[in-house]
Amino acid sequence: SKIDHIRNFAIIAHIDHGKSTIADRIIHSCGGLTEREMKAQVLDSMDIERERGITIKAQTVKLNYKAKDGKKYILNIIDTPGHVDFSYEVSRSLYACEGSILIVDSTQGVEAQTLANVYQALDINHEIVPVLNKVDLPASDLEKTKKQIEDVIGIDTENAIPCSGKTGEGIEDILEQIIVSLPSPEGEKDANLRCLLVDSWYDTYLGVVILVRVIDGKISKNMKIKMMSTNQEYIVEKVGVFTPKANDINELNAGEIGFITTGIKVLSETKVGDTICDASKPPEEALPGFKPSKPVVFCGLFPVDSSEYQKLKDGLGKLQLNDASFSYEAESSSALGLGFRCGFLGLLHLEIITERLEREFDINLLTTTPGVVYKVHMNKGEVIELQNPSSLPEPTLINYIEEPWIKATIITPDEYLGPIIKVCQDKRGVQTNLSYSGNRAVLSYEIPLNEVVFDFNDRLKSMTSGYASFDYEIIDHREGELVKLGILVNAEPVDALSMMVHKDFAQIVGREVCEKLRDLIPRHNFMIPVQAAIGGKIIARETIKGFKKDVLTKIHGGGARDRKRKLLDKQKKGKARGKQFGKVEIPQEAFIGVLKIN
Ligand code: GTP
Repeated sequence: SKIDHIRNFAIIAHIDHGKSTIADRIIHSCGGLTEREMKAQVLDSMDIERERGITIKAQTVKLNYKAKDGKKYILNIIDTPGHVDFSYEVSRSLYACEGSILIVDSTQGVEAQTLANVYQALDINHEIVPVLNKVDLPASDLEKTKKQIEDVIGIDTENAIPCSGKTGEGIEDILEQIIVSLPSPEGEKDANLRCLLVDSWYDTYLGVVILVRVIDGKISKNMKIKMMSTNQEYIVEKVGVFTPKANDINELNAGEIGFITTGIKVLSETKVGDTICDASKPPEEALPGFKPSKPVVFCGLFPVDSSEYQKLKDGLGKLQLNDASFSYEAESSSALGLGFRCGFLGLLHLEIITERLEREFDINLLTTTPGVVYKVHMNKGEVIELQNPSSLPEPTLINYIEEPWIKATIITPDEYLGPIIKVCQDKRGVQTNLSYSGNRAVLSYEIPLNEVVFDFNDRLKSMTSGYASFDYEIIDHREGELVKLGILVNAEPVDALSMMVHKDFAQIVGREVCEKLRDLIPRHNFMIPVQAAIGGKIIARETIKGFKKDVLTKIHGGGARDRKRKLLDKQKKGKARGKQFGKVEIPQEAFIGVLKIN
């Protein structure tokens, strides 16, 4: 039956369209926080999130609202991350609610992530309340934004609410619309417990905290529960809700969202999407779960100073406590020593984790070229999942190699279509669709993930002055003519620089890598050859000259290379980095430089 007094909803929006600002307004307007408590962006808790303006960990808040019909309601808001790398966290949040608020910046219009998230919500039958934000700005264009929402997303905008997170205009209208338009949850209050494990994270004081949505029955303190996927039983220690502060209560009933703790010590015992039930009264069927996230981008992380290995290991362990979506395992490289092979949901995820390692754990890191997971089909029928190019088997033993392909959606002002299509074609893309809303184009391409993993998003942004947006999902694996490009510095192979590339690009990429390294590896007092090779065959070569006797030439040279080095020095943030390869020291910048090659 319907649980009339509750509304559970997610807020979905493209990055920077105002999700956090509006969530804060709603919390404030329901008395969840006083003005003083309402620091900017309550829902974004981590420092890094705040700096980057990206919501990483989905958060939940329970609010009380007295509507115009005179009745009291409970509203549960689930915040969702906006970036493509975290679309999996969006889907888990959506599963816990019946509806979504779709926020579109009325000065910008519909963007690719708006589209991706809203389709996920529509797929699971969410009711959607469209909100047109930033009406206080002169550039706000309500009619155009509405038309775009109708053309591109295909939902009705008759009841779309104009609002401003900045001035507070329209916030009451949003709350009323939530009550009127969004369905209340359905569930049986007196049935046996069935509860969805929505999310879990590690808290220093509480241990593992589990976010749950109760579907049927109730979950209460001291109850003996069971996780249906593992059959493990636990006693519920705490039950609570976030208001947004954590508040202990005795029980959560059908339709409600809140947290429990159970004395579980390791995050891996809590499977997101699992069904929690009463240990003595398990239901016949578990709830439909949702697809778990899987790392798609891999790279090696090594301490620059090998004495920091243990520190790195501890840091990775701590970060994983709160982020089960990244993986790591020990790896040793002849050149780089002991380190870890790590898997991430995408490039932004990789950047965030490495930045936190450097910042929070003070580790000087060396990151190897990121790559995707290849399926290597051996002659004997065996299939190897290759995460690290340096462990590619002997080519003669390989039958064929498959690589992951994505479906990319790009939304852009149509004036940039030409150059965008050119880049997509250059990256082996296949166009599957192109449609318009006014002068806004929606472009669909199928592209190998390997081709976009390095810098696609950056290039798109710079080509279009930031006006285009991009989102992707992995669709399948396809056979590709891929080879391992090896790099030799002073005749020594540098594993960390080897990469998988398409056969047709090997020559160009090899040449670019050699040129980059020639510019980025400082001169030594001897000549250093830098070579690119496929198997035993050298396909490109550059030479780093030895020091000249005349030091002054070097200082006054002032060539492009010196200027480049100065620029790079500025970015170094003071720390000296470098790694010894045989007789040659290769600075961290050289590794990063190679990553930026397209
Ligand atoms: P992510 O957390 O990165 O996904 O972004 P978000 O969607 O939560 O956006 P956020 O609330 O951080 O807002 C982005 C920027 O827009 C901030 O600088 C806000 O101050 C600003 N902003 C939000 N709403 C409004 C509005 O109605 N008017 C104006 N002028 N600025 C707004």
